[in-house]
Amino acid sequence: MSNLSTPAVQKEIERRRTFAIISHPDAGKTTLTEKLLYHGGVIHETGEVKGKAGTKAVTSDWMELERQKGISITSSVMTFDYDKLRINLLDTPGHKDFSEDTYRVLMAVESACMLIDVAKGVEDRTKKLYDVCRLRNIPIFTFVNKLDREGKDPLTLIDEIEKTLNMQCYPVTWPLGIGQRFKGIYNRLTKEVTFYDQRREGDEMQTFPFSGPQDPILEKYLDHETLAQVRDELELIENALPPFDVEEFLAGRLSPVTFGSAKQNFGVDTFLKFFTQFAPGPRPRPTKKGDTLDPLSSNFTGFVFKIQANMDRRHRDRIAFVRICSGKFERGMKVNHSRLDRELRLSYSNQFIAADKETVDEAYAGDIVGVSDTGNFAIGDSISSQGKVIFADIPKFAPELFAKLTVRDALKRTKLNQALRHFSEEGAIQLFIDPIVGDQESIVGAIGELQFEVLVHRLQDEYNLEVKLTRLPFSVARWPRDANGVAVSQLKGNFQMFRDMIDQPVLLLNQEWDLNWAQKENPEIVFASSISRAR
Ligand code: G4P
Repeated sequence: MSNLSTPAVQKEIERRRTFAIISHPDAGKTTLTEKLLYHGGVIHETGEVKGKAGTKAVTSDWMELERQKGISITSSVMTFDYDKLRINLLDTPGHKDFSEDTYRVLMAVESACMLIDVAKGVEDRTKKLYDVCRLRNIPIFTFVNKLDREGKDPLTLIDEIEKTLNMQCYPVTWPLGIGQRFKGIYNRLTKEVTFYDQRREGDEMQTFPFSGPQDPILEKYLDHETLAQVRDELELIENALPPFDVEEFLAGRLSPVTFGSAKQNFGVDTFLKFFTQFAPGPRPRPTKKGDTLDPLSSNFTGFVFKIQANMDRRHRDRIAFVRICSGKFERGMKVNHSRLDRELRLSYSNQFIAADKETVDEAYAGDIVGVSDTGNFAIGDSISSQGKVIFADIPKFAPELFAKLTVRDALKRTKLNQALRHFSEEGAIQLFIDPIVGDQESIVGAIGELQFEVLVHRLQDEYNLEVKLTRLPFSVARWPRDANGVAVSQLKGNFQMFRDMIDQPVLLLNQEWDLNWAQKENPEIVFASSISRAR
């Protein structure tokens, strides 16, 4: 057992909260992020995150080069202080830059905020990100957004979330009407109502004590029809639901739900207050040995969850994003790189505050630092200041896009295979082999389109290889396992098996329907959508 950090360091660690927002594109993640940064005092005028002329650009696009290319492949970290806490919000690349990195970010947070568009409910991308959170059973807050627009009624929506995600919900706030008739929210924990007025900003709203569904104050603000509906809903939830169970929440089985409008900055502060009250700080992290490491330990430890390769060959350096798991980071410190079993000096490091990349001299468990890397790091690598610590693996997630790569000059086939192996080790793409053709033809898998674009660019830029990428019809990858978790390489039915980079059998299928068929033919087999990455 290692010693504990000094009381001053412990205090810093205990005030860290590290989380991410999971949502489907257009649910309002950028808008909510902006409002959170506004409440955290990082930006002073809303609209900055959107990159209005003359203000800071989109916070996640900090690399100028990438901005010029019109792509953002950086999961940045936005840090702000709120209510004595230091909050790290990790960006989960969405839209076009959705990739395996988006999933890996979720391995570096202690909680997540699931953002749902009230009109759309649980959408496809949200469900996928939620499933990744479930792998570690991290606590999930739910924020139902766009209440100022028409949408599903809140009871139907909560029922949908519970059924689709197989998770209990606990409404912390309740909306008073919706869309045109949206008049405010009731906070069930503080027993207060806040009325919505489009002319006022969120922090100028009026809040009143609330005695319950029959409180006459509702009559002053709600029309007849909304009043009747809201009272019915409130009677139902007040009587039917048990009190908020913090343990169930921390175990990832119950999600507290708040409602609001990110655009109108309404309900965001309520969410933030609730978040600061209940979000867990750095938690003990499981190691490969099977024990856990206390975040308050004096041993500085961390693991790499993302590697940012520079798109410009003149700047070959890469940035390894390290999630600090315990202790204190100091610039220039020497650490043990567990996989290479070598000592390294972490001399160049960045922390990310909004659009700025700032050199960081010290950071604590819960923080993310970007460490300059000349090729020493791979996804999942662990570092520690005392002895050797190896954290549990970051899984590999099933790709959904597949392509075949061919190189014009057939003599360059070996070079291409080498390059692909390198990119696969780095975690930029996944590589699959068709055992019938061997490595004469490589199949690459990705989670987002951009990964392919970056791959083709880097093959040209770093290896001088001009390749042709042909999309394949697969969209599902699964690793078949028996009841003991042992890899299965033969299935009943006419299914062709491929091998992945660590020689595990993997099934590549065109559609979900085929997977259902495979499952029907092989009821005893578990078709895993993620596996441990070998170190
Ligand atoms: P994303 O990052 O999740 O993709 O979503 P983003 O914040 O960019 O929001 C997507 C659209 O939804 C934006 O509209 C945004 O203004 C709108 N939006 C976000 N939150 C709310 C809300 O609470 N209420 C309403 N009514 N709209 C909301 P846009 O038309 O694409 O951009 P803009 O012209 O409004 O900036």
